[in-house]
Amino acid sequence: MEPFKGLELLSSAVLILNRDGKICYANPAAEDMLGLSLKVVSGMAVERVFLNSDVLWDICAQVIADETVEVARDIVLDRPAMPPLTIQAVAKALTEPIDGVLVEMRENVQRIRHDRENRLVNQAQANMEMVRNLAHEIKNPLGGIKGAAQLLELEVPAQVLPGLREYTQVIIKEAERLQLLVDRMLIPYKRDLGLSLVNIHEVTERVRSIILAQYPKGLTVKRDYDLSLPELKGNKEQLIQAVLNIAENAAHALGSQIREGTAAIVFRTRVARRVTIAGNAYRLALDLSIIDNGPGIPEGMAETVFFPLVSGKQGGTGLGLAISQSLIQKHGGLIACESVPGRTEFVIRLPYKNQYADLRGNQ
Ligand SMILES: Nc1ncnc2c1ncn2[C@@H]1O[C@H](COP(=O)(O)OP(=O)(O)OP(=O)(O)O)[C@@H](O)[C@H]1O
Ligand SMILES: [Mg+2]
Repeated sequence: MEPFKGLELLSSAVLILNRDGKICYANPAAEDMLGLSLKVVSGMAVERVFLNSDVLWDICAQVIADETVEVARDIVLDRPAMPPLTIQAVAKALTEPIDGVLVEMRENVQRIRHDRENRLVNQAQANMEMVRNLAHEIKNPLGGIKGAAQLLELEVPAQVLPGLREYTQVIIKEAERLQLLVDRMLIPYKRDLGLSLVNIHEVTERVRSIILAQYPKGLTVKRDYDLSLPELKGNKEQLIQAVLNIAENAAHALGSQIREGTAAIVFRTRVARRVTIAGNAYRLALDLSIIDNGPGIPEGMAETVFFPLVSGKQGGTGLGLAISQSLIQKHGGLIACESVPGRTEFVIRLPYKNQYADLRGNQ
């Protein structure tokens, strides 16, 4: 198509629409994105290629009306028979060669990042399953070992074999330590205590007070809340546990800043609209960020922090983040992480899922 020559060389997808929202041109990158050829889409209304084209069309109409340029980020577009697409769109009014609008669409860098994270999370989940099976295998014999050591202690009085009690005590204490570890491994699989409507700020406030009780000096925990956030359907105790594990890591990483009195953790809540989480699209979600000004995640560990038994600290079991991720996934959400020295941010994204209707159904 001569009038739009040059656009076919672009790597970003370009659609040209007339004022009625009909597609006049799609460059090869757009054909790829739509999974349809130019021949097929020519003359098609934009709502036929994107099932929810209203957001996109809103900005196009705006651009046509005032002849400006509009940029929209994080638009989720549903395509027939293909997974939803999260894009950044730039729309520009055209008068030549046709009267209409040019829309340039780029797949979100963020989406690509999320894809990567989803992959990692799936892997972490598989590992967590393995840990769970292992924990179950260890749990029963461990009870037996501890019980037998206790019996032994009773059967053989200390005066018969001096020093024997010391040995049985080692067995009992170590079995108890392992029991605690095994119980932690099984936290995400504990039966749900039920769901209720949770105010996310009650969760963050509880975590804040626990952390401040542990670190009364040298650490500030700031709140940056969007108080208009609606309540979320979930299990409050599990959400507290998930946030606490992350906040404890942050506080732990802030060791030297705490000594200097410059340590800061920020709890930030925001609304997120039209998001996809692990391939599911939601109209509304909330983002809870836990940000610290510590040294950052050790190099080479960024990819694996959510894996169970991966730890960068002495005495760490490496279960905290794996447990948090599992608990948040049980709520349909996802935790992502970005870290550079001086700023580490964990974002917990939790979707609002038709929750009021579900909750009534559960009662
Ligand atoms: N905010 C942070 N700043 C720097 N490093 C972090 C941060 N959060 C996590 N990490 C790194 O990720 C590792 C894994 O964390 P995770 O909570 O899963 O295990 P852990 O803290 O080592 O042990 P556990 O939580 O089971 O006691 C930590 O050991 C630490 O090295
Ligand atoms: Mg931890």
